[in-house]
This record gives sequence, structure tokens and C-alpha cells, in this order.
Amino acid sequence: MKTSIKEIRSDYERLVGQEIFVQGWIKTNRFQKQFGFINLNDGSALANLQIVYDATLPNFEEVAKFGAGCSLTVKGTLVLTPQAKQPFEIKATEIILEGDSPSTYPLQPKRHTREFLREIAHLRPRTNLFNAVFRVRSLLAHAIHEFFRKKDFIYLHSPIITGSDAEGAGDMFQVTVLDMEKPPKKDGKVDYSKDFFGKHANLTVSGQLQAEAFAHAFKKVYTFGPTFRAEKSNTTRHASEFWMVEPEVAFADLRDIMDLIEEMIKFLIRQVFEGAKEELEFFDNFVSPGKIEQLRKLLDSKIHVCEYEDAVKIIQKADHDFEHKISFGDDLATEHEKYLTDVHFKGPVFVINWPKEIKAFYMRLNDDNKTVAAVDLLVPGSGELVGGSQREERLELLERRMAEMGVPAEEMQWYLDLRRFGGTVHSGFGLGFERMVMYVTGVENIRDVIPFPRTYRNCDY
Ligand code: 4AD
Ligand code: MG
Repeated sequence: MKTSIKEIRSDYERLVGQEIFVQGWIKTNRFQKQFGFINLNDGSALANLQIVYDATLPNFEEVAKFGAGCSLTVKGTLVLTPQAKQPFEIKATEIILEGDSPSTYPLQPKRHTREFLREIAHLRPRTNLFNAVFRVRSLLAHAIHEFFRKKDFIYLHSPIITGSDAEGAGDMFQVTVLDMEKPPKKDGKVDYSKDFFGKHANLTVSGQLQAEAFAHAFKKVYTFGPTFRAEKSNTTRHASEFWMVEPEVAFADLRDIMDLIEEMIKFLIRQVFEGAKEELEFFDNFVSPGKIEQLRKLLDSKIHVCEYEDAVKIIQKADHDFEHKISFGDDLATEHEKYLTDVHFKGPVFVINWPKEIKAFYMRLNDDNKTVAAVDLLVPGSGELVGGSQREERLELLERRMAEMGVPAEEMQWYLDLRRFGGTVHSGFGLGFERMVMYVTGVENIRDVIPFPRTYRNCDY
């Protein structure tokens, strides 16, 4: 019977004495004169399967030499081992080498630094840490769809290549087929009318604007896909290619969308508790001690809400050495966010109503004429996890804001139509998917939660 380690572990009592057939990769192979032990991993679970073998195997001497990384087919019988650490093992009757792995295999059984592992991103999923991280990443992605499906949201695929700058921030990767050596020119400038799309195009920074269009037909929609930002910031929290979850809801205000954020975060964490217990224990033991308790606490409490203005005052009054001073109108630096989440609120916090100058053009202007109805969810460790807002639904105000911020109106007529025809009070948010993985696992560097990360000056594989 061909089976996975996960299946065997969940049902080993029934399988006692039965012939088992497994395939996987050697983690370790310890050989002691008469017999040996192989720790095999097949990717179905974080845990390995112990295989015992002895001289009854015709290829016993060869097997004793198989090193870490070899791929094997193993046949054997399941036996209980009540005295040992693991409750059972497989007594091998046949071990076939599928793919050899000589001693130059970089993942020999010893501790490796994360930096080293980043340089072998094609092999690192075979380590315990990355096995756990990417299993949780996969689980979270499924959970996101499950959450929105249960709530009757429509899943929309927003475009990857776009003609508009959704954030108005200009950090975009250009998409072109023009000859970089000799681009066609008109009046001294590159003539994009000769380009593939007949206009300038770029990779999307957010699917929000298109989600707003769909929200005005389906009411509750979300997109979940890759987004691209050409920010030249080399931090532990910024990637050039990352995934974002962006729900958009018509007839919803800021408070409604904050409730949705909280419900979603808690749902995702509960799913991880349910579906990745071993992985969570691993993170709690080896990556971020106290992680389980931290997540439990979040599930059991209401997320704090703090006005931006009050957040600034808290930071100004803090008995703490900050590198940067802050006053009303400034964005929060990482150290400020950290102070709010780790020291002041000791947990996640919604910061709401931000100065309009430091936020995007589409956010709804508050009655004070100074702030917009924006929300950032800050969490310990990953900083800004979610950014969202109530959208400006009033056409004249939106047009004025776009003009002030230099957002080209010609390109955005379709977006303004959403205000012209059956506009609604509506709101949405973006969850940085990698930051969520970082928060749940406790892994501090975004490069270590993306299979093949793309960051400033790095695009290997
Ligand atoms: O705050 P941001 O820029 O908001 C938007 O893009 C809105 N259009 C979202 C919306 O309202 N629909 O990005 C949203 C989230 C951030 O809170 C952060 O978690 C993540 O996306 N994020 C990044 N994650 C990794 N690398 C980067 N360079 C990121 N930039 C933003
Ligand atoms: Mg933001």
C-alpha cells in the first residue's frame, strides 16, 4: 500500500504489522554495525518517519552509505516502539535508491543560517523551517478563500498588467516591448503609442481600483493575487513581488471594514491552530518563543483602536529613545509602530484617521478636512499588516484630490464613472499576505516566507 507519512501517523495503530510502502528523502542515516536508522521525510508532514534496516536487506552495505538528500522507495512493516521517542517505526524489507545525493549536498544535517539557505532557495524547502513555513503559507491561502466564500464574496481576478497607478505612488515596474537601445521618440520623449498596448503599461501595485468596479455590481468582492512594487527599500518587510488580499464592499464604511479585518485575521489564525498544530509548536519552540500564546491572546481579545492623532501623542510622550521624532503629519516609522504594538498596546492595534497628505488619493476625506478615513492594522513583528480605507465616493471631492495629487484624470475616467453611476459609500482593505505569514510563523524576514523572493537587486531563480 503506497502511503504518506501523514496518513501513517494519523492511523498507525491500525497499520501495525501491515506492509507499508513510502517514498521520500533521507534526512539522516545512522548506521551501527548490525543495523541502521533512516529518518525519512516525504513532505506530507513536518515529522520524519523512522526506518530501521539490518543485514537481512540484500543491499544492506549500500544502504548504510546513503547520505542526506537521497530519494528512496521503502517497503517494510509498521512496528510499535513503546519505549522510544516516536511511537512506531518501519522495519524495512526493501530499500531502493531512486536518486543519489553525494556528500556535496549542501543540506547536511547541521544548523544552517537563514542567509545561507536563502542562497539555495531551490533546496531550502527540504529543511524543517521552510517545510513548516510553506505548509502554513499554503494553508493560509486556502483559508483566505474559505473565509470569503463562506461570507458570499465574489472572487475577482484583477489584472496583473495595468494602465493605471492604483496607489498614485509611482513605484511601478514598466511593461514594454520597445527596443531599450533605440526606443521610438516623439518630441524628444519615448513614444509609447508604438509600444505593445499602444500606451504606457506597468505591473499592478494593487487590484483595488478594479475591485471597486466589481463591488458596484456584486457588493462584496475580493481579489487575491500577486502585486509588484519597485520600491528600492531593502528592509525585512518589503518585497518587490508579493501577494495581497483585497476585499472591497459596497455600502460599507470604515467601521464595517475594520470589523471585517478583525474577523478575517481571527479566522485565519484559528485555521492555523486547527490545521498546523505541529508547525505552530515548531515555530513556538525554535523561531519565536511565546508565539502560540500571543496568537491565543489575539483570538481572545478585541483589537485596540487608536486615532492617528492619539498615536502621535503617545509616541511624543513616551519615555523611550526614538531615532526619529514625530509630529502630526508624519508617517509612522518602524520604531514608532514597534513602540505602539510591543510596548504601549502590547498587541495589534488599528490606527485610524490619518493625515490626507500621507495617504492615497482615493481615501475619503473626513469632516475635519485634514484627515482621511484610513486604517492601518499594526501587529508586533510584521508592523503594518493591513492598510485600508473608506473610499471617496463624492465625485467633486475625488476629482479635486486627484488634481492636487497629480493623478492623471484622463486615464481614470472609468474609475470616476463608479461615482457617476450608482455610487455608494464603500470601503476595502489590503492584507499583505507575506506579512500575515510572518506574523503567524514569527519568521522575521519576508525573504523567508516567499518561495523565491524578489527584492531590490535580487531576482534569482
Ligand atoms: O497599504 P497598501 O499600500 O494598500 C494598498 O495597496 C491598498 N490598495 C489596499 C486596499 O485598500 N485595497 O498595501 C496593503 C498591504 C500593506 O498593509 C502591507 O501589509 C502589504 O500590503 N505591503 C507589502 N508587503 C510586502 N512588500 C511590500 N513592498 C508591501 N507593500 C505593501
Ligand atoms: Mg499602507
